[in-house]
Amino acid sequence: MKTEKFYLEDRCADIAAVCDILKNGGIVAIPTETVYGLAASAYSDSAIKNVFLAKGRPQDNPLIVHISDLEMLKDVAADIPEVAYVLAQKFWPGPLTMVLGKGEKVCESVSRGLNTVAVRMPSHKTALEIIAKSGLPLAAPSANLSGYPSPTAASHVLHDLDGKINGIVMDQNCEVGVESTVVSLVGETPRLLRPGAVTLEQLREILPDICVDSGVLTEVKDGERVASPGMKYKHYSPKTQVFLVEGSSKAFTDYVNQTENGAAICFAEDSGIKIPAMVYGTASKPETLAHNLFNALRDIDDKGYSAVYVHAPEKTGVGLAVYNRLIRAAAFKVINL
Ligand code: TXA
Ligand code: MG
Repeated sequence: MKTEKFYLEDRCADIAAVCDILKNGGIVAIPTETVYGLAASAYSDSAIKNVFLAKGRPQDNPLIVHISDLEMLKDVAADIPEVAYVLAQKFWPGPLTMVLGKGEKVCESVSRGLNTVAVRMPSHKTALEIIAKSGLPLAAPSANLSGYPSPTAASHVLHDLDGKINGIVMDQNCEVGVESTVVSLVGETPRLLRPGAVTLEQLREILPDICVDSGVLTEVKDGERVASPGMKYKHYSPKTQVFLVEGSSKAFTDYVNQTENGAAICFAEDSGIKIPAMVYGTASKPETLAHNLFNALRDIDDKGYSAVYVHAPEKTGVGLAVYNRLIRAAAFKVINL
């Protein structure tokens, strides 16, 4: 299949063309403020099937539905609690996904048999425009091959999916860099299923009783029931073996300097590293780490290192999201110094 590239030089015409593909059941990679998504109509069973095929996505992992206004929320979700509107008012459009009761119109294939649906309203101008102009809620997982680091640039999407999808909107890199925060509002207490740029601390202001699902920081065991199927799978993994290293700048530097054939992904604050190293941001500004994380993991992959040692961020604020992705990239191999 030829993957058509839309550069938005003629914005109106390109957006109209993308909407036509989506309305006809095609699949198109679109930028969002978090990561690139692979969009399909949430009302087209065959389009959803093709999303799973293109990504090689495990069949039991449901998709997030993207909407452009609160009217659409009523079409895709049911039994919406009042607090969902309070969260929407504060964080939408933006990187927060809510798990709610599933609306009837949304294909079963989106939720993979669950009676819930994950919904978010992205803040990226192009994504919002495509949803609004197509008039369709769009199911969109991250536009990477399943298991690889999520794509934060059009080049990442083309690396993984060129020739497997109908189109891609060629846009600037994604600002946030990690996927949205996922919070479930269907159980007795609200539950954080995946940390993101909307932080746990921010959510607590509206949901004081929110609990953090055990899958956020620990490994899900074989056969264990999970609140969010995506937690079970090996994720974000480059081919190179990743180790997550916790410790001070000095301890990290001393540790990596005695390794052989390895490389480091470190903070701007780390100095004296003698092995090949790539800075992924400033420890005191975890949003910079989030922005560069997946690009760093992809970049380091082609260089033939035996292992890559990543300096672990604090598990607070956006740092929790970065830590959550890294611990999976490292298949839970953590070195505590
Ligand atoms: O920022 C994002 O959320 C990006 C952009 C494209 O919007 N999308 C994204 O989708 O990260 P994906 O498919 O890579 O991750 C969706 C996560 C998975 O872990 C999945 O298991 C969970 O959301 N999920 C989806 N529907 C769910 C549901 N009904 N209940 C619980 N978890 C759900
Ligand atoms: Mg994903």
